[in-house]
Amino acid sequence: MALKLTGNYSKHNKPTPTAKVSQVESVKDGTDNKVLHRSMFETSRMLEYFTERELSYQTGHSREAWPRVILKELMDNALDACENASVDPEIKVELRDEGQFFSIVVEDNGPGIQPEVVTKILDFRTKTSDKEAYVSPTRGAQGNALKTVFTIPYVLSASTPKEGTCEIESQGIRHTIKVRLDMIKQEPRIEHKRVEIVKNQGCRVSVWLDNTTIPHSFASEQFLQILSDYHLFNPHLALTTNLRKRGTGKCIGASPLGANYELIYIDNEGYYKATVSNWHKWKPNDFTSPLWYSTDDLKKLIASHVALAQDGGRDLTLREFVAQFRGLTSTAKQKAVISRLPRIKRLSDFVSNGDVDSALISVLLENMRSQTRPVPPQNLGIIGEEHFVKCFEGRKVKYTRKMGGKDNIPFIVEVAYIPDEDLEEVKFHFGLNFAPVSSDPLQSCSLLHETRKENFEGSGIKGLASRYKVDCKDKIHIVCHMTYPRFRFKDRGKTILEVGNE
Ligand SMILES: Nc1ncnc2c1ncn2[C@@H]1O[C@H](COP(=O)(O)OP(=O)(O)OP(=O)(O)O)[C@@H](O)[C@H]1O
Ligand SMILES: [Mg+2]
Repeated sequence: MALKLTGNYSKHNKPTPTAKVSQVESVKDGTDNKVLHRSMFETSRMLEYFTERELSYQTGHSREAWPRVILKELMDNALDACENASVDPEIKVELRDEGQFFSIVVEDNGPGIQPEVVTKILDFRTKTSDKEAYVSPTRGAQGNALKTVFTIPYVLSASTPKEGTCEIESQGIRHTIKVRLDMIKQEPRIEHKRVEIVKNQGCRVSVWLDNTTIPHSFASEQFLQILSDYHLFNPHLALTTNLRKRGTGKCIGASPLGANYELIYIDNEGYYKATVSNWHKWKPNDFTSPLWYSTDDLKKLIASHVALAQDGGRDLTLREFVAQFRGLTSTAKQKAVISRLPRIKRLSDFVSNGDVDSALISVLLENMRSQTRPVPPQNLGIIGEEHFVKCFEGRKVKYTRKMGGKDNIPFIVEVAYIPDEDLEEVKFHFGLNFAPVSSDPLQSCSLLHETRKENFEGSGIKGLASRYKVDCKDKIHIVCHMTYPRFRFKDRGKTILEVGNE
């Protein structure tokens, strides 16, 4: 049977309202057999966030982990915003059982989120990020985290029809965001209400989850672990929370989810003190080094700039673009770089045949690299022994650090062992670029530890530790934090590192 495309609707197969004009009409194949007239449906790409399956893919985690995903993404954003504004972060985290809903609220003292950024984030056709296209040691760089945060309450909603609610209070505006889905058109229906409020510093994001559908593994201990690990990897962070360890606070109300689930609130808020002020670390808005980019990375960054210009932004001159890189702020160096590409005046000049020309980008990158010196690893930010000693107050801390550079890209690895009689078993604290990760980031790679007497080999940090000296029943904390601008992940959840030649 041959098929041909036509713009007419077939009378046998009346399209649903989601069907767009292209229909497929069968052409007789010589027999009188009735055949299915298929319609060409178009499904909105925006739905990538609105089903459990799609959202699990987007977040890289199944629904059990979503409450933790929300907390982590909001913490990352709060820290990044404060660092960008050179403000020592003071973050307040509140978790509240409000009957039908459970709320997660994260408030920071940063510059706040601009109203137009909120509007852009609610456009589910695009990604909105000031980090995604840059290569740097940032906490995360997917560019869609808040979109997932906004749609998790919708997907976990038990009401009919489903509905999820979030709120952002910042820069004198309360944005109330209600997420629904048009079930017929299969399109998001986002209600975004803005109300003027008293202008306060920072940003406060509240997310409401349906209490009846919150996954069982959603336990206060896990939240506490995440929060204390943020403190562990961020010496400049002052963190306040209404959560406290089981048994040490006041428990309000019975849990709807059974005995294993217990939320503990405290009258006097828990407080994690900052151990340094003005801590030097690489900030998300620091200039990035050309030495950290591959040709593809630089191409992606330039394409993003060109796309922005096509949408009404400014088409940057090559000189302006080059000046945004570390080591290339002097006029002499900028001139040296751009003089080798005389035909390129503006970034849009890199486009030929509808794409950014890779060969030209490669020349540009080579020029930029030749004018730049490698970034010393200590510039990325050292957490340091003193901070760990303060975090594990009164306990003996064995700390070790390795710093260096591979192919002109700096790295720092910090490891600490802390015996703790209160533990029942060994407790790992993994961190990448100043944010905790929920599992061993090197689990998929074989590690070797050479001592003078013998060699130890194991799979991942946990595997190596068990081969070396650590028994799972040992009462110790093992802290392992790595900083590197070019982490590549195997999973969308950004937890398992891809370790190739790097
Ligand atoms: N607390 C905040 N204060 C100020 N700006 C914020 C805050 N939270 C988010 N933003 C802005 O919203 C943008 C989108 O945040 P989102 O978390 O979706 O993406 P991202 O942080 O850029 O990357 P990732 O997906 O890796 O988290 C950020 O790039 C930032 O500009
Ligand atoms: Mg983010």
